[in-house]
Amino acid sequence: IVGYAGAAPQGADQAGGRAVEVVLEGLRRLEYRGYDSAGIAVVTGRDGAGGVETRKKAGKLANLVEVLGTDPLPQSGTAIGHTRWATHGGPTDANAHPHVGVGGKLAVIHNGIVENFATLRAELTAAGVEFTSETDTEVVAHLLARAYDGEQGGDLTEAMRAVCLRLEGAFTLLAVHADVPDTIVGARRNSPLVVGLGEGANYLGSDVAAFIASTREALELGQDQVVTITPTSVVVTGFDGTPAQGRRFHVDWDAAAAEKGGYPSFMAKEIHDQPQAIADTLLGRVDATGRLQLDELKIPEAELRSVDKIVVVACGTAAYAGQVAKYAIEHWCRVPVEVELAHEFRYRDPVVSDRTLVVAISQSGETMDTIMAVRHAREQGAKVLAICNTNGSTIPRESDAVLYTHAGPEIAVASTKAFLAQITACYLLGLFLAQLRGNKFSDEVADVLAQLHEVPGQVRQVLDGLEQVREIARYMADTRSVLFLGRHVGYPVAMEGALKLKELAYIHAEGFAAGELKHGPIALVEPGQPVFVVVPSPRGRDSLHSKVVSNIQEVRARGARTLVIAEQGDTAVEPYADVVIHIPRTSTLLSPLLAVVPLQVFACELATAKGLDVDQPRNLAKSVTVE
Ligand code: AGP
Repeated sequence: IVGYAGAAPQGADQAGGRAVEVVLEGLRRLEYRGYDSAGIAVVTGRDGAGGVETRKKAGKLANLVEVLGTDPLPQSGTAIGHTRWATHGGPTDANAHPHVGVGGKLAVIHNGIVENFATLRAELTAAGVEFTSETDTEVVAHLLARAYDGEQGGDLTEAMRAVCLRLEGAFTLLAVHADVPDTIVGARRNSPLVVGLGEGANYLGSDVAAFIASTREALELGQDQVVTITPTSVVVTGFDGTPAQGRRFHVDWDAAAAEKGGYPSFMAKEIHDQPQAIADTLLGRVDATGRLQLDELKIPEAELRSVDKIVVVACGTAAYAGQVAKYAIEHWCRVPVEVELAHEFRYRDPVVSDRTLVVAISQSGETMDTIMAVRHAREQGAKVLAICNTNGSTIPRESDAVLYTHAGPEIAVASTKAFLAQITACYLLGLFLAQLRGNKFSDEVADVLAQLHEVPGQVRQVLDGLEQVREIARYMADTRSVLFLGRHVGYPVAMEGALKLKELAYIHAEGFAAGELKHGPIALVEPGQPVFVVVPSPRGRDSLHSKVVSNIQEVRARGARTLVIAEQGDTAVEPYADVVIHIPRTSTLLSPLLAVVPLQVFACELATAKGLDVDQPRNLAKSVTVE
C-alpha cells in the first residue's frame, strides 16, 4: 500500500502533479510483498469538479506501468497505489485494487482479510449494489461510498470511521474521494500502516519502504486508528473519533533493509512473521460460537464424510508439514493418513479410490512433482484438496478445492512461515472433518481451536527468547555434522530442523525418529557430536516423554553435546542436556508449531555466522518447477 498527498498540478512548469510517479516508486519498493496484480487511483480536478480515475492490471507491476504508458492517468497531487497478494479472489484485473465505490467518486485499497465480508456483501446486494469482483475490498468500497453519501454526509474521515466499526478481521485501508482532491484517509486494524511526514507532502505506506526515498520522518498508527492526510496536515483519531497520536520515529534503515522490515534478511523477517502467518491462516474460519466454518472448501460435505483414507502429497518442508498433520488428523478423525513424497507417489501405483481424499500441500502451488501427483490422483478418481499459499497458482487450479494458507509471500527460498501456516491449515482441515463426521472427538474441536488461537502469542514468546540459540549457533559455526532426534510429532520437526540446517548452512544434518537411533544410527555418535532433541510435553501420554529422555541419556553417554528443546518447567531433561531451550506449554499435537522455531533460528544464525546468503542458498530454487 502506498499513498501520496502532495502539490497539485499548477500548470506544466510546476513540480506539482507528480502523484503517479511518486506512488509507482513506492510500489516498486514494496513489490516483493505481493505481485499478483497492481493498481493506482488518482483524484483529479479541484473543489469537487474532479473525479477519481483508476488503472489496474493483473500480474507484476510492470504490467501496470505498461498500461499507464498507453493509457496514462492525468497529473494529480493525490494518489493511492497497491500491489496485491491475492487472498479472496484470484489474481485478475477485476480483483485488482483499487476498487471504486458506488457512484464512482471514491476509490479504496486494502491489505488484510475482512472476516465478515460475506455478510456485508449480502447486505449490499440486497440493497441493490452490483459487484464487479470477488474481493472483500470491493465490499468496503461500496460501504464507504454509501456512508459518505448517507449518514456521514460529505466527510470521508467520518465515513471511514463508521465503516471500520463494522469490519472484523485484519485490514489496512486507504481511501480517496473526488470531493476532497488533496485528502487521503487511512485506517488500520491488525495490519500495519505508517505515515511518511514530508515537506509540503505527506505519505502513507504498509511499511516505510513505501516512502523512504522521500522522507525518513515517520508516524506509525496504532490499533484501530484512522489517519487523515493532506499535503500539509496529518490528523490521527481512534475509530470512535477521539484524538490519537500514533508512534513518531525516524527511519534509520537503508532502502534495502526497509524492504525487509529492518531485518537482515527475508529469512529473518519471515521467521518473525510466523505469529501473523498463523493468525491470518486462522482468521475468518472460526465463527463466534467457536465452530469451524470453511465455506471455501468446495467438496460436498457428504463426500467428506465418506472419506476413508487421506493421502498427503508434497515435497520437502511441505511434506514434513503433512507428517506433523498426520498424527493430529488420525487422532481427531480416526481416518488413516498416508504422507507420500509427491515424486514417489505416482510411480508407486498407489491404492486410491473415490473415497480417498488427496491433500496436496504446496507453498508455491507450482512444484511440478506435486502437480504431477495431483493429476495422477485425479485420474485415479480421488478428490484433491490443495493447501496452498499462492492464490490462483497451478495446484489449486487443478484441484477440486483449496484451503489457502495466508502466510503472505514467502521470499526466502527456505520455507519457514509457510511451514507453520501449512500445519495450521492441515489442523483446520482435520478439526473440520472431525466436526463434520461427529465422531467421539467432535465435542473437543472448540477446545483445540481455542488452544490454536493461543499459538501466535506463544510463537512470539519463543521468538523473544532466542538470544541463547543465536549465541550457540555462532559458537558452533564450524560444526560439520548435526543430528536431530524427535518422537511422535517431534519426529517430523527433527526432520525439518535438519533440512533447514542443510539448506542454509550446507552442513550435513540428519533427522531421526528417536526410537530408531539404537537400531543403527547411534554408531554415528562420537564425543562432541551435537545432537538436538525435540522433547514432548511431560504432561503427554504413552510415556513418550520418559522414552525421549532415555534417548538423550543414550547419546549423552557416548559423549554427544545435547541441545534439548523442552517445555517450560520440564526439569527431567536437565541432567542430560548441555543446553535446554524452553518453549511454552501447549498440547503435544500443537507443540511442533513452537518446537521448530528455535531450529529455524539456529540454522539461520549459523549460516549467517558462516557469511552465507540465507535468502538465496546455493543450488536451490524457491519453486522446483521441473520433475
Ligand atoms: C523448503 O525449505 C524447501 N525450499 C523445499 O523443500 C520446499 O518446501 C519444497 O520444494 C516444496 O515447495 P512448495 O511448498 O512450494 O511445493
